[in-house]
Amino acid sequence: MSSPNARSQKLAERIAVVTGAGQGMGRAIARKLASWGARVAALDLNAAAVEETIAQLGERGAHVALACDVSDSRAVDAAFARIAADLGEVAILVNNAGIGRAPNDGSERMYELMAKRNAELASGGPAQTHVDQVPFMEDEGWRGVLAVNLDGAFFCTRAAVRAMIKAGRRGAIVNISSTSAQSGEGSVHYVTSKAALIGLTRALARELGGRGIRVNAVAPGPTNTPIMQGIPEQWVRDMENAIPLGRMAEPEEVAEAVCWLASDAASMCTGAVLVANGGSYFF
Ligand SMILES: NC(=O)c1ccc[n+]([C@@H]2O[C@H](COP(=O)([O-])OP(=O)(O)OC[C@H]3O[C@@H](n4cnc5c(N)ncnc54)[C@H](O)[C@@H]3O)[C@@H](O)[C@H]2O)c1
Repeated sequence: MSSPNARSQKLAERIAVVTGAGQGMGRAIARKLASWGARVAALDLNAAAVEETIAQLGERGAHVALACDVSDSRAVDAAFARIAADLGEVAILVNNAGIGRAPNDGSERMYELMAKRNAELASGGPAQTHVDQVPFMEDEGWRGVLAVNLDGAFFCTRAAVRAMIKAGRRGAIVNISSTSAQSGEGSVHYVTSKAALIGLTRALARELGGRGIRVNAVAPGPTNTPIMQGIPEQWVRDMENAIPLGRMAEPEEVAEAVCWLASDAASMCTGAVLVANGGSYFF
């Protein structure tokens, strides 16, 4: 086993970009990358939240916080230009920013129907309510989720790869997918976006391998982040009961998997999907 000191130096001086780093998994990933020695550029829609993340990393000036909407390709390119100027050339990118719902995607109605159906089941009767979402999902709702989860990952990847090629550097990209990509559980736009990230990971692993750029994905299952606070307690308990390890992941546990894939310890891994879900679903 490596000593804590060797571990803290694993990503020494590497510039790492983390999207959606204002809270939850993104913040945990930023913290762990920094503790492994990386200099972190933390991006998020929420400027105050991402400033707070950077404040938690210590070592003032070693890291930067940037307000950026990853679904806006111009904003992404501008953020990467700032990162190059302030920190240097990017060596690691973690595409973590993601949303589960968007305006006019039929979610409100779906959650109401789901609660009704669960009540029917809980009362011992047959479930008569059908939980549908797609007929009520407008273009805006569909695009909203794909724009952040998939377009955002592509825009950031493109900017990072340009920088890596320009610098003639090896690099590592980690995409945060989801167990739902394989199980199919969840809203259709979300599941589609997370499955698409696995396709993106594999296609890029082939395209970029020759340049020494590795591209992998992590597929978390239910993880204890602010996203979970919006879900009724009973559903969360039912979800946990179905996990062989008996609990949700903590964001730090997912961050560990991300840092490992980003580090040289994973030097022969590319195109892989590392599942961190306590056994809730097997890929
Ligand atoms: N929590 C889970 O159970 C779980 C499970 C599987 C996968 N995931 C995935 O993990 C990732 C992180 O999830 P989380 O639970 O930490 O979510 P979260 O909602 O707690 O945090 C997401 C962060 O992304 C930011 N963000 C949203 N849209 C953005 C945009 N357009 N540009 C930049 N930043 C944006 C938000 O401001 C927020 O800080 C997501 O991709 C999510 O789909 C989460």
